[in-house]
Amino acid sequence: MARHVVARAAELPEGASRVFSVRGREIAVFNLGGEYFALINRCPHEGGPLGMGLRVGLSDSDRPGHYAHSRPGELLRCPWHGWEFDIRTGQSWCDPTRLKAKCYAAAREPGSALAKGPYVAESFPVSVEEEYVVVDV
Ligand code: FES
Repeated sequence: MARHVVARAAELPEGASRVFSVRGREIAVFNLGGEYFALINRCPHEGGPLGMGLRVGLSDSDRPGHYAHSRPGELLRCPWHGWEFDIRTGQSWCDPTRLKAKCYAAAREPGSALAKGPYVAESFPVSVEEEYVVVDV
C-alpha cells in the first residue's frame, strides 16, 4: 500500500471533507475534530457519492419518548437513498453485520516525515587560478 499526499492540512480544517482522486479511486477524506478518516466515495448499496452525503450525529433511544444525541457530524448519510455510515469505521447503520464502506488510513503528518532531509544542492568544485596583489591602506 503506497502513501499519497492529497492536500495541505490547512485545506482540510476541522469539520471539513473533500473528495480526492487517488490512483483512479475517488476517496472522501474527513477531518473530525483533528482526526482524519477516509472512505471510498462509492456507497456499497448502489454506488452513491458518499462524499456528498449529509453529515449527521447518532440518535439513540432506550425507551419511547427519550432520545440521546451524540457524535455530531460523525455519521454520513448517502445522498441517494439515505443509508448511514460511520465515518470512523465505514460501518453501515442499515445492516451493520454485512455492509461497510471501504476505509483507508488517513493521517496528518509533517512534511519532514514525508520527505527526509537534509537537502543538498548540486555543487561544483571551485579553484583560484591566478594570484593578485593586495594592498592594505
Ligand atoms: S446508493 Fe447509497 S444508499 Fe443507495
